[in-house]
Amino acid sequence: MKSIIEVKNLTKEYRNLKALNNLSFDIFEGEILGLLGPNGSGKSTTINCILSLLNYNSGSIKIYNQEMQPDAYNIKKDIGVIFQDIAVFEELNVYDNIDYFCGLYVKNKDERKELIKDTIKLVGLEDFIKFYPKQLSGGLLRRLNIACGIAHKPKIIFLDEPTVAVDPQSRNNILNGIKKLRKQGATIIYTTHYMEEVELLCDRVIILDKGKIIASGTCDELKELINIEEKVTVEGIDINKNLLKKIRDLKNLKNINNHEKTLIITYQKGKNNLIKLIDFLKQENLPYSKIYSERPTLNDVFLELTGKDLRD
Ligand SMILES: Nc1ncnc2c1ncn2[C@@H]1O[C@H](COP(=O)(O)OP(=O)(O)OP(=O)(O)O)[C@@H](O)[C@H]1O
Ligand SMILES: [Mg+2]
Repeated sequence: MKSIIEVKNLTKEYRNLKALNNLSFDIFEGEILGLLGPNGSGKSTTINCILSLLNYNSGSIKIYNQEMQPDAYNIKKDIGVIFQDIAVFEELNVYDNIDYFCGLYVKNKDERKELIKDTIKLVGLEDFIKFYPKQLSGGLLRRLNIACGIAHKPKIIFLDEPTVAVDPQSRNNILNGIKKLRKQGATIIYTTHYMEEVELLCDRVIILDKGKIIASGTCDELKELINIEEKVTVEGIDINKNLLKKIRDLKNLKNINNHEKTLIITYQKGKNNLIKLIDFLKQENLPYSKIYSERPTLNDVFLELTGKDLRD
């Protein structure tokens, strides 16, 4: 895999706050890289530093082996950015907004027409080309925001939380559109605090917390870090200390959490953990309303590494 963006020892401070603390990572050609972290962890700051929109205190950033500078226009023409805050012109309709942003890069009108047509199809705004931003729902507006950033077919695309507060239909449309962009050869950097999206979309993930990289790898690699094979949840169960101790003695058990009539048990390894637990509950005549088993999520990884939930 070819590295096309190289970030080395990047540190960014705001007065007393270290927003980014010595980050080093590569971005490889053709991948979807997820930057996952809770609010304030430094996702947007990382993107803005890479794009030379923010000064930083120390470190270096290279794109295509060239030092990234505010005036590196030869690199910038290959980059598309979709910012976290929507940035479109209220006085232009959907088509003209996309045309404006595409026109910053592509002068030829006919070429632009084709690009805009492709983009409108990709984000699914065919029925709304004459609509003004104010007339669009939140999800459609997000799609327009994305269209404006990608119409010139950039090779590298940064998307900063593009699915915040959108309806499920728009979210699916956006996620599928991003997969299509990768198929067309784009390299994508995707920030989010939704771990489900990362699992669906990303080839590789960097988990950020308080401006530091706390882990990176594929979703499977990250899950291996925490050494949990299975998580079993029992809802609607009343359990006493004595029984809890008995459960603790079951094989392969790693951790047990009993809170508000919900029992969450994590297992390190082993087969048939769920069946053995069901047998045990039956044997003890213990009623419950629901029992299910899951593979660990990235939230479990985050929880284990930081002691807190990703969503907090
Ligand atoms: N202009 C600024 N001045 C001072 N502090 C800032 C500024 N911009 C960001 N910060 C701080 O830097 C840290 C990182 O912020 P950043 O916006 O990069 O986080 P984020 O991961 O993008 O969060 P979110 O999910 O809320 O978008 C936060 O603690 C934030 O309060
Ligand atoms: Mg942000």
